[in-house]
Amino acid sequence: MTDDITIGPATEDDVDAIVALNNMYAPDGLTLMRTRAWVADRVPNYNVARRGGRVVGCVAIDEYSPSLAELVSLAVAPEAQGRGLGGQLVEAAVDLARRRGYDELFAVSLADTLFLSWGFHETRVDRFPEKRWRYLQVSRSELSIAKKFCFSRELVEAPRTPKRRKPSRRKRPA
Ligand SMILES: CC(C)(COP(=O)(O)OP(=O)(O)OC[C@H]1O[C@@H](n2cnc3c(N)ncnc32)[C@H](O)[C@@H]1OP(=O)(O)O)[C@@H](O)C(=O)NCCC(=O)NCCS
Repeated sequence: MTDDITIGPATEDDVDAIVALNNMYAPDGLTLMRTRAWVADRVPNYNVARRGGRVVGCVAIDEYSPSLAELVSLAVAPEAQGRGLGGQLVEAAVDLARRRGYDELFAVSLADTLFLSWGFHETRVDRFPEKRWRYLQVSRSELSIAKKFCFSRELVEAPRTPKRRKPSRRKRPA
């Protein structure tokens, strides 16, 4: 990633830029079309990448249940792609989801190498039936979701197994 790009929480002033960036890829089915109202309602769920004053990347998390969220609205401006920014945004979404206390974060995407290299594993979209239902509210084309892959990352660290204590060398009193 180039040094002049910073990633951080979105503000209300970023809404129009986020909508424009996200929707740029919607005609190709890479992102879902989002309205200004949809984004404005979810500003605290967004992180953006900025170069100077300009938004060149965005990502959000969208809650499904107290334990499950989806990574959505991942988009990087064409001129900023291919330099690691997408991965940094995925990690920002993972950090936010973890801080909010979700156990699992999933994504539906064509960008398989990106998600697999950022700790996600491939899973079946029918594990998340509400995703299909929500998707159909936004897009009537079930075809485009069927072509995509579904990825998931667990956010809860596996409990550490306690280290075995070395046997004490001290003699016990008889
Ligand atoms: C996906 C996207 C965010 C990646 O941004 P980026 O800054 O280029 O990401 P990075 O530089 O960190 O990583 C790029 C990797 O993603 C992969 N990738 C990007 N788009 C891909 C796609 N449609 N299909 C498969 N892989 C894809 C690239 O091949 C690359 O892998 P490599 O490093 O092995 O070559 C960007 O390409 C984009 O905005 N695409 C259009 C919108 C989109 O597809 N969003 C995802 C919705 S979940």
